[in-house]
Amino acid sequence: MIAKTLLRLAGLALAAAAPFAAPAPAQAQGNLVLYCTPQEEWCRAMVNAFEKKTGIKVAMTRKSSGELYAQIKAESANPKGDIWWGGTGDPHLQAAEEGLAEEYTSPMNKDLQPWAVKQWEQSKKRTVGVYAGALGFGYNNKQLADKKIAELKCWADLLNPKLKDEVQVADPNSSGTSYTMLATMVQLMGEDKGFDYLKKLHKNVNQYTKSGAAPAKATSMGETAVGITFLHDMVTFIVQKAPITAVAPCEGTGYEIGSMTIIKGAKNPKEAKLWYDWALTPEAQELGAGAQAYQVPSNKNAKTPKEAPDFKKIKFIDYDFAKYGSSAERKRLLAKWDAEVKNLPK
Ligand code: F6P
Repeated sequence: MIAKTLLRLAGLALAAAAPFAAPAPAQAQGNLVLYCTPQEEWCRAMVNAFEKKTGIKVAMTRKSSGELYAQIKAESANPKGDIWWGGTGDPHLQAAEEGLAEEYTSPMNKDLQPWAVKQWEQSKKRTVGVYAGALGFGYNNKQLADKKIAELKCWADLLNPKLKDEVQVADPNSSGTSYTMLATMVQLMGEDKGFDYLKKLHKNVNQYTKSGAAPAKATSMGETAVGITFLHDMVTFIVQKAPITAVAPCEGTGYEIGSMTIIKGAKNPKEAKLWYDWALTPEAQELGAGAQAYQVPSNKNAKTPKEAPDFKKIKFIDYDFAKYGSSAERKRLLAKWDAEVKNLPK
């Protein structure tokens, strides 16, 4: 049905152009400003496929989840973006609550996994799940052997003093991955013990990166012994034969519902809806694997990449997206992390 609509639109536009031009490769039928958070390669593959299919010209900016949330908020008086595709669900939910998102009901909703639809319901139709990913960490096998550290299996193992300056994780203000970790610790251990853990971990952190996936690359190159990321980001490098072991922590872990939002006041709402519907099709969601992005797709008919972490083998917490994606809670936890963890002396 979506494909038919797209074809019909493309056909209509071609017919309108016919008196003036010979049939030509897809003419630009409109414009779309896309804010994109997943892997650059996946963003590009999506843009290319969408442009080819619709003739709509896409201007894409890629940034981390927290950064794009802040940008959309800063631009809200005069929105520049049309649609925000991907990135962890919490800041999308926060944007929805703060009136930065348009309501939309896609005809594709009926084909989505319950967790993707729940995200849409919780946000009052303002954001929807496009993929899921499990939080964990990865270590560089060689670095660990050189330091004579035993296999790491649990969050608790990352506090080993032998790992001083050997753990890398992003800053939760910019990165949705790292905010997922912060909220996971609070839910897994309780707030006091969760913050205690993060303060102890701080001693072992060599750098708080801007992007959530950066520590996976650093781990693959041996620049850090351990990186805390979504597991699929470690898998990308394992597939490239990097000496990494990916770990789903023994205590249990959190996860993301990568989400999609039409920006309130979007200048190209028709094109934004076309992208939204298309991005929920199996055809679009299966582009991830080709770009070495191994998240679990939200369309029930889309193939999950065979490399994707096996969710059945991971102990998940019951992540409370309504609470940790709420504006007040996200602001409060980030301010507390800034005040109590970020600048602690080592
Ligand atoms: O690299 C892909 C990815 O892990 C997505 O699954 C996730 O939504 C996004 O990155 C989060 O990025 P960041 O932590 O930089 O906001």
